Amino acid sequence: MNVLVTGGLGYIGSHTVVELVAAGYKPVIVDSLVNSNRGCLSRLHTITNSEIPFYHMDISDSTKMRQILSKEKITGVIHFAALKAVGESVAKPLSYYANNVSSTISFLEDLEHLGIRQVVFSSSATVYGNPKSVPISEDFEVHAINPYGKTKSIIEELGRDLCANDSPWAWVNLRYFNPIGAHESGLIGEDPKGIPNNLLPYIAKVAAGSLPELVVFGDDWPTIDGTGVRDYIHVVDLAKGHIEALRYMERNRGEVTVNLGTGSGVSVLELISAFEKASGRKVPYRIGPRRQGDIAECFADSTKALKILNWRAHFNLERMCQDSWRWQAQNQRGYE
Ligand code: NAD
Ligand code: UFG
Repeated sequence: MNVLVTGGLGYIGSHTVVELVAAGYKPVIVDSLVNSNRGCLSRLHTITNSEIPFYHMDISDSTKMRQILSKEKITGVIHFAALKAVGESVAKPLSYYANNVSSTISFLEDLEHLGIRQVVFSSSATVYGNPKSVPISEDFEVHAINPYGKTKSIIEELGRDLCANDSPWAWVNLRYFNPIGAHESGLIGEDPKGIPNNLLPYIAKVAAGSLPELVVFGDDWPTIDGTGVRDYIHVVDLAKGHIEALRYMERNRGEVTVNLGTGSGVSVLELISAFEKASGRKVPYRIGPRRQGDIAECFADSTKALKILNWRAHFNLERMCQDSWRWQAQNQRGYE
Protein backbone atom coordinates (compact mmCIF):
# COMPACT_ATOMS: atom_id res chain seq x y z
CA MET A 1 0.00 0.00 0.00
CA ASN A 2 1.37 3.41 -1.01
CA VAL A 3 0.83 5.96 1.74
CA LEU A 4 1.14 9.72 1.33
CA VAL A 5 2.71 11.26 4.44
CA THR A 6 2.07 15.00 4.60
CA GLY A 7 4.59 16.71 6.88
CA GLY A 8 6.73 13.58 6.61
CA LEU A 9 10.03 15.39 7.29
CA GLY A 10 8.75 16.75 10.60
CA TYR A 11 9.34 15.24 14.02
CA ILE A 12 6.51 12.70 14.23
CA GLY A 13 6.17 12.26 10.46
CA SER A 14 9.80 11.21 10.00
CA HIS A 15 9.57 8.56 12.74
CA THR A 16 6.35 7.30 11.20
CA VAL A 17 8.02 6.98 7.79
CA VAL A 18 10.57 4.63 9.39
CA GLU A 19 7.81 2.48 10.88
CA LEU A 20 5.89 2.46 7.59
CA VAL A 21 8.87 1.01 5.74
CA ALA A 22 9.44 -1.54 8.51
CA ALA A 23 5.79 -2.62 8.27
CA GLY A 24 5.96 -3.09 4.49
CA TYR A 25 4.20 0.10 3.38
CA LYS A 26 5.59 2.42 0.71
CA PRO A 27 5.65 5.99 2.07
CA VAL A 28 5.70 9.06 -0.16
CA ILE A 29 6.53 12.35 1.57
CA VAL A 30 5.08 15.79 0.88
CA ASP A 31 6.47 18.64 2.98
CA SER A 32 6.78 22.41 2.54
CA LEU A 33 9.81 22.51 4.90
CA VAL A 34 8.10 25.36 6.77
CA ASN A 35 9.17 23.68 10.01
CA SER A 36 11.57 20.96 8.93
CA ASN A 37 14.87 20.40 7.20
CA ARG A 38 15.69 18.58 3.98
CA GLY A 39 18.63 16.98 5.80
CA CYS A 40 16.16 14.64 7.46
CA LEU A 41 15.56 12.87 4.14
CA SER A 42 19.06 11.39 3.77
CA ARG A 43 18.89 10.22 7.39
CA LEU A 44 15.63 8.43 6.56
CA HIS A 45 17.34 6.78 3.59
CA THR A 46 20.14 5.59 5.90
CA ILE A 47 17.80 4.18 8.55
CA THR A 48 15.40 2.48 6.15
CA ASN A 49 17.96 1.54 3.52
CA SER A 50 15.50 2.68 0.87
CA GLU A 51 14.82 5.68 -1.36
CA ILE A 52 11.71 7.49 -0.21
CA PRO A 53 10.03 9.77 -2.75
CA PHE A 54 9.90 13.37 -1.48
CA TYR A 55 8.02 16.35 -2.93
CA HIS A 56 8.88 19.81 -1.64
CA MET A 57 5.50 21.54 -1.80
CA ASP A 58 2.59 22.92 0.15
CA ILE A 59 -0.38 20.57 0.47
CA SER A 60 -2.64 23.34 -0.88
CA ASP A 61 -0.99 23.15 -4.32
CA SER A 62 -3.86 21.20 -5.78
CA THR A 63 -2.54 20.79 -9.32
CA LYS A 64 0.72 19.27 -8.15
CA MET A 65 -0.99 17.26 -5.43
CA ARG A 66 -3.33 15.55 -7.89
CA GLN A 67 -0.40 14.66 -10.16
CA ILE A 68 1.50 13.11 -7.25
CA LEU A 69 -1.47 11.20 -5.89
CA SER A 70 -1.99 9.62 -9.33
CA LYS A 71 1.65 9.07 -10.21
CA GLU A 72 2.50 7.47 -6.86
CA LYS A 73 -0.71 5.36 -6.84
CA ILE A 74 -1.58 6.54 -3.34
CA THR A 75 -4.33 4.61 -1.54
CA GLY A 76 -4.08 6.01 2.00
CA VAL A 77 -2.90 9.16 3.76
CA ILE A 78 -1.35 10.14 7.06
CA HIS A 79 -1.90 13.84 7.48
CA PHE A 80 0.70 15.47 9.78
CA ALA A 81 1.25 18.75 7.91
CA ALA A 82 0.29 21.64 10.18
CA LEU A 83 1.68 24.56 12.12
CA LYS A 84 1.78 23.63 15.81
CA ALA A 85 2.98 26.45 18.07
CA VAL A 86 0.23 27.39 20.50
CA GLY A 87 1.55 30.90 21.28
CA GLU A 88 2.10 31.74 17.62
CA SER A 89 -1.45 30.59 16.85
CA VAL A 90 -2.77 33.15 19.34
CA ALA A 91 -0.68 35.89 17.72
CA LYS A 92 -1.41 34.86 14.11
CA PRO A 93 -4.76 33.03 14.03
CA LEU A 94 -5.32 33.64 10.32
CA SER A 95 -2.06 31.87 9.43
CA TYR A 96 -3.14 28.89 11.48
CA TYR A 97 -6.65 28.67 10.02
CA ALA A 98 -5.21 29.11 6.50
CA ASN A 99 -2.34 26.63 6.82
CA ASN A 100 -4.10 24.02 8.91
CA VAL A 101 -7.77 24.23 7.93
CA SER A 102 -7.98 25.79 4.43
CA SER A 103 -5.05 23.71 3.14
CA THR A 104 -6.61 20.56 4.54
CA ILE A 105 -9.91 21.28 2.78
CA SER A 106 -8.09 21.75 -0.52
CA PHE A 107 -6.15 18.53 0.10
CA LEU A 108 -9.32 16.57 0.95
CA GLU A 109 -10.93 17.77 -2.26
CA ASP A 110 -7.95 16.35 -4.13
CA LEU A 111 -8.31 13.03 -2.32
CA GLU A 112 -12.04 12.92 -3.01
CA HIS A 113 -11.44 13.73 -6.67
CA LEU A 114 -9.15 10.72 -7.01
CA GLY A 115 -11.23 8.38 -4.86
CA ILE A 116 -8.65 8.15 -2.04
CA ARG A 117 -10.65 7.90 1.14
CA GLN A 118 -8.45 6.62 3.94
CA VAL A 119 -7.07 9.29 6.27
CA VAL A 120 -5.19 9.15 9.54
CA PHE A 121 -5.29 12.64 11.05
CA SER A 122 -2.85 14.11 13.61
CA SER A 123 -5.02 15.56 16.31
CA SER A 124 -3.94 16.55 19.78
CA ALA A 125 -4.82 16.31 23.44
CA THR A 126 -5.02 20.09 23.23
CA VAL A 127 -8.62 19.67 21.96
CA TYR A 128 -9.65 18.76 25.53
CA GLY A 129 -8.68 22.23 26.80
CA ASN A 130 -8.84 22.17 30.58
CA PRO A 131 -10.26 18.68 31.27
CA LYS A 132 -12.75 18.12 34.09
CA SER A 133 -10.61 15.25 35.46
CA VAL A 134 -7.80 12.84 34.58
CA PRO A 135 -7.28 10.39 32.96
CA ILE A 136 -8.92 11.87 29.88
CA SER A 137 -11.04 9.61 27.71
CA GLU A 138 -12.19 10.27 24.17
CA ASP A 139 -15.78 10.98 25.20
CA PHE A 140 -14.74 14.01 27.28
CA GLU A 141 -16.06 17.30 26.05
CA VAL A 142 -13.89 18.96 23.42
CA HIS A 143 -13.10 22.54 24.29
CA ALA A 144 -9.94 23.87 22.65
CA ILE A 145 -8.82 27.16 24.15
CA ASN A 146 -6.43 28.44 21.47
CA PRO A 147 -6.57 28.79 17.66
CA TYR A 148 -4.15 25.88 17.13
CA GLY A 149 -6.38 23.53 19.12
CA LYS A 150 -9.46 24.83 17.36
CA THR A 151 -7.95 23.99 13.96
CA LYS A 152 -7.56 20.40 15.22
CA SER A 153 -11.18 20.22 16.41
CA ILE A 154 -12.45 21.60 13.11
CA ILE A 155 -10.56 19.03 11.04
CA GLU A 156 -11.71 16.23 13.33
CA GLU A 157 -15.29 17.37 12.67
CA LEU A 158 -14.61 17.49 8.95
CA GLY A 159 -13.59 13.84 9.12
CA ARG A 160 -16.78 12.96 10.99
CA ASP A 161 -18.92 14.75 8.42
CA LEU A 162 -17.16 13.01 5.54
CA CYS A 163 -17.85 9.66 7.16
CA ALA A 164 -21.52 10.29 7.90
CA ASN A 165 -24.31 8.55 5.99
CA ASP A 166 -22.76 5.31 4.83
CA SER A 167 -19.93 7.05 2.99
CA PRO A 168 -16.89 5.19 1.65
CA TRP A 169 -14.47 7.22 3.80
CA ALA A 170 -12.38 5.74 6.60
CA TRP A 171 -10.91 8.29 9.01
CA VAL A 172 -8.95 7.94 12.26
CA ASN A 173 -8.41 10.97 14.48
CA LEU A 174 -5.38 10.30 16.67
CA ARG A 175 -5.15 12.59 19.69
CA TYR A 176 -1.50 12.65 20.70
CA PHE A 177 -0.41 13.44 24.21
CA ASN A 178 3.21 14.68 24.65
CA PRO A 179 5.64 13.02 22.23
CA ILE A 180 9.32 13.00 23.24
CA GLY A 181 12.29 10.73 22.50
CA ALA A 182 13.91 9.95 19.18
CA HIS A 183 14.84 7.03 16.94
CA GLU A 184 17.42 4.79 18.65
CA SER A 185 19.95 5.44 15.86
CA GLY A 186 20.27 9.08 16.96
CA LEU A 187 19.86 10.05 13.28
CA ILE A 188 16.39 11.60 13.49
CA GLY A 189 14.71 13.53 16.28
CA GLU A 190 12.96 16.76 17.19
CA ASP A 191 14.71 19.79 15.70
CA PRO A 192 12.87 22.89 16.87
CA LYS A 193 13.72 26.18 15.18
CA GLY A 194 15.00 28.78 17.66
CA ILE A 195 14.38 28.49 21.38
CA PRO A 196 12.11 25.50 22.10
CA ASN A 197 8.61 26.07 23.48
CA ASN A 198 8.18 22.55 24.79
CA LEU A 199 9.70 21.12 27.92
CA LEU A 200 11.80 18.18 26.75
CA PRO A 201 13.71 19.91 23.94
CA TYR A 202 14.37 22.78 26.34
CA ILE A 203 15.73 20.41 29.00
CA ALA A 204 17.92 18.71 26.38
CA LYS A 205 19.45 22.03 25.33
CA VAL A 206 20.11 23.01 28.94
CA ALA A 207 21.77 19.64 29.59
CA ALA A 208 23.92 20.16 26.48
CA GLY A 209 24.95 23.61 27.70
CA SER A 210 23.42 25.58 24.83
CA LEU A 211 20.83 27.19 27.13
CA PRO A 212 21.78 28.30 30.67
CA GLU A 213 18.81 27.12 32.73
CA LEU A 214 15.24 25.91 32.60
CA VAL A 215 12.41 27.97 34.03
CA VAL A 216 9.78 25.70 35.60
CA PHE A 217 6.41 27.29 34.99
CA GLY A 218 4.96 27.23 38.48
CA ASP A 219 5.32 24.94 41.51
CA ASP A 220 1.92 25.73 42.99
CA TRP A 221 -0.24 23.51 40.79
CA PRO A 222 -2.50 20.96 42.53
CA THR A 223 -0.23 18.06 41.52
CA ILE A 224 2.11 15.56 43.19
CA ASP A 225 4.98 18.10 43.56
CA GLY A 226 3.30 21.34 42.46
CA THR A 227 4.63 21.24 38.88
CA GLY A 228 2.64 20.48 35.72
CA VAL A 229 1.89 16.84 34.93
CA ARG A 230 1.79 15.46 31.37
CA ASP A 231 1.63 12.14 29.56
CA TYR A 232 5.01 11.85 27.79
CA ILE A 233 5.04 9.22 25.08
CA HIS A 234 7.97 7.90 23.04
CA VAL A 235 7.70 9.15 19.46
CA VAL A 236 8.41 5.63 18.14
CA ASP A 237 5.45 4.25 20.10
CA LEU A 238 3.38 7.08 18.68
CA ALA A 239 4.59 6.32 15.15
CA LYS A 240 3.56 2.68 15.57
CA GLY A 241 0.06 3.82 16.49
CA HIS A 242 -0.27 5.15 12.93
CA ILE A 243 0.53 1.74 11.46
CA GLU A 244 -2.24 0.24 13.57
CA ALA A 245 -4.59 3.00 12.42
CA LEU A 246 -3.85 2.13 8.78
CA ARG A 247 -4.50 -1.55 9.50
CA TYR A 248 -7.76 -0.61 11.19
CA MET A 249 -8.87 1.34 8.12
CA GLU A 250 -8.17 -1.65 5.90
CA ARG A 251 -10.92 -3.49 7.85
CA ASN A 252 -13.34 -0.65 8.72
CA ARG A 253 -15.01 2.36 7.22
CA GLY A 254 -16.27 5.38 9.17
CA GLU A 255 -14.66 7.67 11.70
CA VAL A 256 -13.00 6.80 14.98
CA THR A 257 -11.18 9.01 17.49
CA VAL A 258 -8.45 7.54 19.68
CA ASN A 259 -6.06 8.90 22.33
CA LEU A 260 -2.39 7.99 21.94
CA GLY A 261 -0.75 8.29 25.34
CA THR A 262 0.84 6.02 27.91
CA GLY A 263 -1.86 6.60 30.52
CA SER A 264 0.68 7.84 33.11
CA GLY A 265 1.35 11.36 34.31
CA VAL A 266 4.88 12.70 34.89
CA SER A 267 5.65 16.04 36.56
CA VAL A 268 8.17 18.61 35.33
CA LEU A 269 10.49 17.83 38.25
CA GLU A 270 10.21 14.09 37.61
CA LEU A 271 11.14 14.62 33.96
CA ILE A 272 14.14 16.78 34.89
CA SER A 273 15.35 14.09 37.27
CA ALA A 274 14.89 11.27 34.69
CA PHE A 275 16.75 13.32 32.09
CA GLU A 276 19.66 14.05 34.43
CA LYS A 277 19.97 10.32 35.13
CA ALA A 278 19.83 9.36 31.44
CA SER A 279 22.29 12.02 30.31
CA GLY A 280 24.64 12.15 33.27
CA ARG A 281 24.33 15.96 33.06
CA LYS A 282 22.89 18.52 35.47
CA VAL A 283 19.83 20.47 34.36
CA PRO A 284 19.95 23.76 36.30
CA TYR A 285 16.47 25.18 36.83
CA ARG A 286 14.58 27.82 38.75
CA ILE A 287 10.92 28.14 39.58
CA GLY A 288 9.12 30.89 37.67
CA PRO A 289 5.51 31.99 37.34
CA ARG A 290 2.83 29.88 35.69
CA ARG A 291 2.63 30.09 31.89
CA GLN A 292 -0.61 31.58 30.59
CA GLY A 293 -3.00 28.95 29.25
CA ASP A 294 -1.31 26.02 31.03
CA ILE A 295 -3.25 23.34 32.88
CA ALA A 296 -2.28 21.32 35.95
CA GLU A 297 -2.59 17.78 34.68
CA CYS A 298 -3.15 16.04 31.37
CA PHE A 299 -2.85 12.31 30.82
CA ALA A 300 -4.70 9.82 28.71
CA ASP A 301 -7.13 7.06 29.34
CA SER A 302 -5.55 4.79 26.74
CA THR A 303 -7.94 1.82 26.93
CA LYS A 304 -9.70 2.65 23.66
CA ALA A 305 -6.44 2.50 21.70
CA LEU A 306 -5.84 -1.00 23.02
CA LYS A 307 -9.40 -2.11 22.30
CA ILE A 308 -9.81 -0.59 18.83
CA LEU A 309 -6.26 -0.48 17.45
CA ASN A 310 -4.64 -3.22 19.55
CA TRP A 311 -1.98 -0.61 20.37
CA ARG A 312 -0.27 0.35 23.60
CA ALA A 313 2.90 2.27 24.43
CA HIS A 314 5.94 0.16 25.34
CA PHE A 315 8.88 2.50 26.02
CA ASN A 316 9.35 3.84 29.56
CA LEU A 317 10.47 7.30 30.66
CA GLU A 318 14.08 6.24 31.10
CA ARG A 319 14.24 5.05 27.48
CA MET A 320 12.51 8.23 26.24
CA CYS A 321 15.17 10.35 27.97
CA GLN A 322 18.07 8.17 26.78
CA ASP A 323 16.93 8.40 23.16
CA SER A 324 16.28 12.15 23.41
CA TRP A 325 19.74 12.67 24.84
CA ARG A 326 21.45 10.56 22.16
CA TRP A 327 19.79 12.66 19.45
CA GLN A 328 20.70 15.92 21.23
CA ALA A 329 24.31 14.90 21.95
CA GLN A 330 24.97 13.68 18.39
CA ASN A 331 23.24 16.61 16.68
CA GLN A 332 24.00 19.79 18.61
CA ARG A 333 22.78 21.85 15.64
CA GLY A 334 19.95 19.55 14.64
CA TYR A 335 19.97 18.63 10.94
CA GLU A 336 22.18 21.56 9.93
P1 NAD B 1 6.53 19.31 12.86
O1 NAD B 1 6.41 20.78 12.72
O2 NAD B 1 7.86 18.74 13.18
O3 NAD B 1 6.00 18.59 11.53
C1 NAD B 1 4.99 19.14 10.71
C2 NAD B 1 5.52 19.13 9.29
O4 NAD B 1 4.52 19.63 8.40
C3 NAD B 1 6.75 20.00 9.11
O5 NAD B 1 7.75 19.23 8.46
C4 NAD B 1 6.27 21.16 8.23
O6 NAD B 1 7.29 21.63 7.40
C5 NAD B 1 5.13 20.52 7.47
N1 NAD B 1 4.07 21.41 7.02
C6 NAD B 1 3.37 22.31 7.77
N2 NAD B 1 2.44 22.90 7.00
C7 NAD B 1 2.54 22.36 5.76
C8 NAD B 1 1.83 22.55 4.54
N3 NAD B 1 0.83 23.43 4.45
N4 NAD B 1 2.17 21.81 3.47
C9 NAD B 1 3.19 20.91 3.55
N5 NAD B 1 3.89 20.70 4.66
C10 NAD B 1 3.56 21.41 5.77
O7 NAD B 1 5.47 18.82 13.94
P2 NAD B 1 5.27 17.41 14.63
O8 NAD B 1 5.61 17.56 16.05
O9 NAD B 1 5.92 16.36 13.83
O10 NAD B 1 3.70 17.29 14.53
C11 NAD B 1 3.07 16.58 13.50
C12 NAD B 1 1.57 16.73 13.65
O11 NAD B 1 1.19 16.27 14.94
C13 NAD B 1 1.07 18.16 13.54
O12 NAD B 1 -0.17 18.15 12.88
C14 NAD B 1 0.90 18.58 14.99
O13 NAD B 1 -0.08 19.57 15.11
C15 NAD B 1 0.45 17.27 15.62
N6 NAD B 1 0.73 17.19 17.06
C16 NAD B 1 2.00 17.37 17.51
C17 NAD B 1 2.26 17.30 18.89
C18 NAD B 1 3.64 17.52 19.44
O14 NAD B 1 3.76 17.79 20.65
N7 NAD B 1 4.70 17.42 18.66
C19 NAD B 1 1.22 17.00 19.78
C20 NAD B 1 -0.05 16.81 19.27
C21 NAD B 1 -0.29 16.90 17.91
N1 UFG C 1 7.17 23.69 31.07
C1 UFG C 1 8.06 24.33 31.92
N2 UFG C 1 9.07 25.06 31.37
C2 UFG C 1 9.27 25.15 30.02
C3 UFG C 1 8.36 24.50 29.16
C4 UFG C 1 7.31 23.77 29.72
O1 UFG C 1 7.92 24.26 33.14
O2 UFG C 1 10.22 25.84 29.60
C5 UFG C 1 6.09 22.88 31.65
C6 UFG C 1 4.70 23.35 31.28
O3 UFG C 1 4.25 24.34 32.15
C7 UFG C 1 3.91 22.04 31.35
C8 UFG C 1 4.92 20.98 30.94
O4 UFG C 1 6.20 21.58 31.13
O5 UFG C 1 3.52 21.80 32.67
C9 UFG C 1 4.81 20.54 29.50
O6 UFG C 1 4.83 21.69 28.65
P1 UFG C 1 4.99 21.57 27.06
O7 UFG C 1 5.00 22.94 26.51
O8 UFG C 1 6.13 20.68 26.72
O9 UFG C 1 3.67 20.74 26.64
P2 UFG C 1 2.13 21.11 26.77
O10 UFG C 1 1.47 19.94 27.41
O11 UFG C 1 1.92 22.42 27.41
O12 UFG C 1 1.68 21.24 25.25
C10 UFG C 1 2.15 20.33 24.25
C11 UFG C 1 2.01 21.03 22.89
C12 UFG C 1 0.55 21.20 22.57
C13 UFG C 1 -0.12 19.87 22.63
C14 UFG C 1 0.06 19.24 23.98
C15 UFG C 1 -0.56 17.87 24.04
O13 UFG C 1 2.66 22.27 22.90
O14 UFG C 1 0.41 21.72 21.28
O15 UFG C 1 1.46 19.13 24.27
O16 UFG C 1 -0.13 17.10 22.98
F1 UFG C 1 -1.43 20.01 22.39
